[in-house]
Amino acid sequence: MSRVENKTAIVTGGGSGLGAASCELLARQGAKVVVTDVNAESAEQTANIIEQRGGKAIALHQDVVDQDRWQEVIDTTVSEFGGLDVLVNNAGIVGAGVVPMEDVSFESWRQVMTINLDAVFLGCQAAIREMKSSEGGSIINISSIMGIVGGAGAAYNASKGGVRLLSKSVAVYCGNNRYNIRCNSIHPGYIWTPMVKGIVDSVAEVDTEEALKLMLEAKHPIGRLGEADDIAQGVLFLASDESSFMTGSELVIDGGYTAV
Ligand SMILES: NC(=O)c1ccc[n+]([C@@H]2O[C@H](COP(=O)([O-])OP(=O)(O)OC[C@H]3O[C@@H](n4cnc5c(N)ncnc54)[C@H](O)[C@@H]3O)[C@@H](O)[C@H]2O)c1
Repeated sequence: MSRVENKTAIVTGGGSGLGAASCELLARQGAKVVVTDVNAESAEQTANIIEQRGGKAIALHQDVVDQDRWQEVIDTTVSEFGGLDVLVNNAGIVGAGVVPMEDVSFESWRQVMTINLDAVFLGCQAAIREMKSSEGGSIINISSIMGIVGGAGAAYNASKGGVRLLSKSVAVYCGNNRYNIRCNSIHPGYIWTPMVKGIVDSVAEVDTEEALKLMLEAKHPIGRLGEADDIAQGVLFLASDESSFMTGSELVIDGGYTAV
């Protein structure tokens, strides 16, 4: 029995890394997937992989900070696949996230907050309006270990901490209104995606990707970095009815990073 059979899911930032892995796993488990990304070509690639394996997917261009585009994406989802059951707010950037507090410009701070936090608010609001008029659904917001502990730059930390509490607020609001909409956050440890490889030039202690990887591995008691699939498994669980009593909670998938 497939775990998300007949559900329809939108995954933002589905063209790369954790988003792409989540799209592929949800589709393998029976979901119809709307892959969105600001990089339209990468979203197409993910959707093509799913289709080639016999799954159902469409790709849409979406900049998650564009409020009007959210309604268009949801309308297209409903007209193509008949409804909306799952939203994964995954798109995000490091941007100035690793720039030290004293050096980060206000403009860079705003850019990180807009993509990582404001856009998650827009997605939650648009999804609630659609889901409450049908049978409800599951909203999954990708936060970070940096939404729980300090350590990255101020902007990334603050944006991911905001996602953590926004998720609880959405959960309580939807619960109080008996919308049958659950909302949870996921907190990944470091996963070796293009985003993480990209911070190599901003980390003073290292000058190669290999050195960065070794440095990051040492911060995870389990002794390795995570795989994109480790996070996709969490997304699948929260998307499925197996997690039907979970809302407002934090799924930490971090190889022990925050246990230290
Ligand atoms: N990789 C990690 O170690 C890690 C750890 C904790 C949390 N996260 C979070 O997981 C999420 C995915 O990260 P990843 O590592 O897969 O990154 P990634 O860079 O591999 O993928 C991010 C995707 O988001 C898309 N994107 C960026 N800005 C967008 C916008 N404005 N609108 C739509 N799409 C946009 C990019 O085009 C890209 O395809 C992010 O929210 C990130 O903060 C990642």
